[in-house]
Amino acid sequence: MEYKASEIRYKDMNYRRCGNSGIKLPLLSLGLWHNFGGADVFENYRKILWRAFDSGITHFDLANNYGPPPGSAEENFGVILKKDFSQYRDEMIISTKAGYDMWPGPYGEWGSRKYLLSSLDQSLKRMQLEYVDIFYSHRPDPDTPLEETMGALAHAVRQGKALYVGISNYSAEMTEKAINLLKEMGTPCLIHQPKYSMFERWIEDSLINVLGNSGVGCIAFSPLAQGLLTNRYIKGIPEGSRASKAKFLKPEQITDDKLNIIKKLNKLAEERGQSLAQLAIIWLLKDLRVTSVLIGASSIAQLEDNLKALENLNISTSELQAIEQILKG
Ligand SMILES: NC(=O)c1ccc[n+]([C@@H]2O[C@H](COP(=O)([O-])OP(=O)(O)OC[C@H]3O[C@@H](n4cnc5c(N)ncnc54)[C@H](OP(=O)(O)O)[C@@H]3O)[C@@H](O)[C@H]2O)c1
Repeated sequence: MEYKASEIRYKDMNYRRCGNSGIKLPLLSLGLWHNFGGADVFENYRKILWRAFDSGITHFDLANNYGPPPGSAEENFGVILKKDFSQYRDEMIISTKAGYDMWPGPYGEWGSRKYLLSSLDQSLKRMQLEYVDIFYSHRPDPDTPLEETMGALAHAVRQGKALYVGISNYSAEMTEKAINLLKEMGTPCLIHQPKYSMFERWIEDSLINVLGNSGVGCIAFSPLAQGLLTNRYIKGIPEGSRASKAKFLKPEQITDDKLNIIKKLNKLAEERGQSLAQLAIIWLLKDLRVTSVLIGASSIAQLEDNLKALENLNISTSELQAIEQILKG
């Protein structure tokens, strides 16, 4: 089947400026951590990508290790890019990362210049691309000087293999240092990618202020807490769900206390005429320093449910207070 992008793809999506940069990102971005690997169904994830692009989602987030097996999400994405999206490349922001374990030996993970730059070359080859839009250091490396890691990111930009750089999972303190180093190197930090959801609020302590004050964007990953902040687990653990695979989301994480909170949040969402996934998304977008919410989806139905969140971004002070009460348990 041939793909032709919808002519009205930019009609309903809103875009937010990424910090002080020239780039705008869609309020919803799509991540390929799960559901796009070697074990997944090609025609399923291909259609998810079509639907995403047709809805104005211009940003697709990858990493060297996404799969499984590691690298297969980039490979599969590369095939679909070539097949379906080659004429739309300039309408897309494609990111990849390096930081986690990717190949054997001392140069296959963390933050050395050796690892980051070879990994980026491998990612470009897998995706059949000449450059990515954003290249991230996926996690801070306690043993490599920050100057070396940031220097490698800046070098990738000078090489023309990345247009912008970002960091992920860095603490507020390290983020400040990284931002300053990158500024000195003439390659401003575009964006930080932290885990952020109603269940994971560490960035509210100070990271979000650092980003806001420095004009660096913020893209929240695992905004649905890997599916917990949806109606997915309210009646048990469905076959094929992430928790049923028991690797990244373990059944024991779905405690009775958590389920109680989820059910109350779900009720509040229903009263607003929304799904819980939609409420969880707009709760993040209420902070204008959050540039984009980076969701995952295993079906078009999930993607569509999440896109509908953007139809009602308003949330009242009393609803926010009610959410705080519920989250206290
Ligand atoms: N930088 C980092 O270290 C890092 C780490 C993790 C993720 N990320 C990025 O963030 C992206 C998103 O992470 P994530 O997949 O954990 O995000 P998420 O949006 O919190 O979880 C996605 C999962 O939730 C379920 N889901 C999604 N929409 C739903 C809906 N409307 N109703 C019911 N269930 C729904 C699906 O689970 P089922 O599969 O069970 O259907 C889906 O796979 C990743 O792809 C990656 O790009 C980055």
